[in-house]
Amino acid sequence: MADFVANPEGGLAWVTGASSGIGRALALRLSKDGFNVAVTARDHEKLVELQHEAPGPGKIIVLDGDITDPRDMERILAAIEYEHGTMVLAVLNAGVYIPVHGEDMHREDFEKTFAVNLHGTVNCLLPAVRHMQSRGQGQIAIMSSVSGYGGLPTSAAYGATKAALINMAESLKFDLDKAGIRLQVINPGFVQTAATAKNSFSMPALISPEEAADRIATGLKSGGFEITFPRRFTYTLKLLKLLPYGLYFWLLNRATGWKTRPLATRRHAAKTMARDPQAV
Ligand SMILES: NC(=O)c1ccc[n+]([C@@H]2O[C@H](COP(=O)([O-])OP(=O)(O)OC[C@H]3O[C@@H](n4cnc5c(N)ncnc54)[C@H](OP(=O)(O)O)[C@@H]3O)[C@@H](O)[C@H]2O)c1
Repeated sequence: MADFVANPEGGLAWVTGASSGIGRALALRLSKDGFNVAVTARDHEKLVELQHEAPGPGKIIVLDGDITDPRDMERILAAIEYEHGTMVLAVLNAGVYIPVHGEDMHREDFEKTFAVNLHGTVNCLLPAVRHMQSRGQGQIAIMSSVSGYGGLPTSAAYGATKAALINMAESLKFDLDKAGIRLQVINPGFVQTAATAKNSFSMPALISPEEAADRIATGLKSGGFEITFPRRFTYTLKLLKLLPYGLYFWLLNRATGWKTRPLATRRHAAKTMARDPQAV
């Protein structure tokens, strides 16, 4: 593990996906801890609102952009480094969650999820590593999820990107350690945000974005490779993955009640029927 742990005296932090949810709460938390924080997302207005709300002492620097555009991310990193100061910490948090139902799949749901969560994160990671490498130090945390541990209902696209991010971080850690860059992966359980508001099932151990930001801020300081919370829930999922597949699927079907739920197409039809009985 590289020794470096970022602090506000060393330079500024960059948080992607800071216009809402976990990223927004984390930007506020880091600003409270004294970091100047460059924030990126597509929604300029929301980032400006965040800037006004930030309590300080660290200031918020609004640099909106789309992480699926590699040139946009190169531009933002250049703006951070050459106009605002040395970036010592990058939290690559931006992501989307599009539920996928196996019996009603759409190519664009997979493509969008892969483009933002996986390729978008790579678009941020490459220039961040390059700038830090030139100084021989830095800290980068990649937002993944417990969905990356193993297959879960509705997570065929989302979980695939998060599993890829965990593997990518594990693989890169060998080289980035030697380059002086501390690489970490963040695997939260359920956090109450716009992304999870679309879930039609009850979410165990749900926490607030502020609580998630607290856990992430602590994990960034402690420097361990994985930042995961709430642990009772996330470690249970880790343990489930060690079981034989037969038992894994049986337990998850039982815990989520998935087997007895109606198929998605039938659910959509039922919703449409309720709105307009002539429509189906
Ligand atoms: N909520 C949970 O339970 C949970 C659990 C585990 C992991 N996570 C992960 O935590 C991260 C944040 O999720 P959240 O729950 O806080 O969701 P959220 O409130 O929907 O926030 C997602 C953020 O990503 C940004 N974003 C989306 N597409 C983007 C793009 N193309 N370019 C730039 N920014 C983009 C959004 O901003 P704009 O729309 O303004 O661009 C927004 O700021 C995600 O990676 C998610 O997978 C969440």
